Amino acid sequence: MAARLLDRLNLCRMVGETAYGLVPDAALVLADGQIRYCGPKGDLPKEWHGLDAEGLDGRLVTPALIDCHTHLIFGGNRALEFEMRLQGRSYEDIARAGGGINSTVQATRQLTEDQLVETALPRLNALTAEGVATVEIKSGYGLTIADELKMLRAARRLQALSGIRICTTYLAAHTTPPEYKGRAGDYISEVVLPGMTAGAAEGLIDAVDAFCENIAFSTSETRTVFEHARLLGLPVKLHAEQLSDQGGAALAAEFAALSADHLEYLSPAGIAAMAAAGTVAVLLPGAFYTLRETMVPPVEGMRAAGVPMALASDCNPGTSPITSLLLTMNMAATLFRMTPEEALAGATRNAALALGLQNEIGTVEAGKRAELAVWSIEHPAELAYRIGFNPLHSSIIEKN
Ligand code: NIG
Ligand code: FE
Repeated sequence: MAARLLDRLNLCRMVGETAYGLVPDAALVLADGQIRYCGPKGDLPKEWHGLDAEGLDGRLVTPALIDCHTHLIFGGNRALEFEMRLQGRSYEDIARAGGGINSTVQATRQLTEDQLVETALPRLNALTAEGVATVEIKSGYGLTIADELKMLRAARRLQALSGIRICTTYLAAHTTPPEYKGRAGDYISEVVLPGMTAGAAEGLIDAVDAFCENIAFSTSETRTVFEHARLLGLPVKLHAEQLSDQGGAALAAEFAALSADHLEYLSPAGIAAMAAAGTVAVLLPGAFYTLRETMVPPVEGMRAAGVPMALASDCNPGTSPITSLLLTMNMAATLFRMTPEEALAGATRNAALALGLQNEIGTVEAGKRAELAVWSIEHPAELAYRIGFNPLHSSIIEKN
């Protein structure tokens, strides 16, 4: 494919010496799906001088955004639970009474793979309309082998349909389904583990996740799931410390997890374990906001320990019915006191790290994929600043 030269743009590389990796009056050369040059226009190597430049009128170019934690595929919705919570019931209460995740499981089992694709597509489109080019999607609302694999196949089809990158995560250990009530161990050995083997054999699983919580799985049950993932050579991540401190983050770190996610109740020991293992903290302000949580994740402690922080929508019908990564960035700044630069790093560089894709995407560097977002703004702090306004001009996703 012919090389493209873009100029008259300000570049926000999210790597390098300057804040945000800003390069004013920059140029970009893209070829064969890769970034070949990114830097000052004045330093453009001679070999590219002959290209016709496409001017971007001084717009800001960032890495394409990455939503590294979603439950985008599901049946139904949970608006009635939203009403119940407004009447005073808690998320845990509703889950224990058979609602919560299990009510979405019921609705998801009823849909065909085609219907799952069809109902998820508008949500995916809402994300991509804001410059997102990679979305992680979890299973976890099927909870039978067939229904979990159905969700993962639907996720793979969304990639083919949308042209953006979809990373799949196997989350059969989301909760114990009603037919296994009180028999979590049997559910793990009869469904979670063999489903993982089958999904891996079909190439459907990029990573394995679990929900480690008093209303879901214990650390020792989670360990069983992680050991099976290790056997299959699959990386792990974990819903940890969302509602209470279970020591899940330390367990995740022990397995060199890509990420531990939520983390409102993360302890200093959990922070130290994550820092030592290089496990990314994925913060999910949409769930914090929806559940009216008051415990803020220990951002300052993670910052001090050098734990990389990513951000994601956690799009799901129960705790985070949000399909905006820009709003998520705004919430992270306002609710968690992350800086706008940390928020943008959380939706680009550190989100790539949380997916193990740091060598391909997440920053603007020569050799990385040509996946960029072009914004009609002057400064990158504007991305986390506005509420409910989308300044995206265009997305650039170059294929090989
Ligand atoms: O990330 N914490 C567990 N899983 C989801 C919620 C799923 C649901 O309530 O449907 C989450 O918050
Ligand atoms: Fe989640």
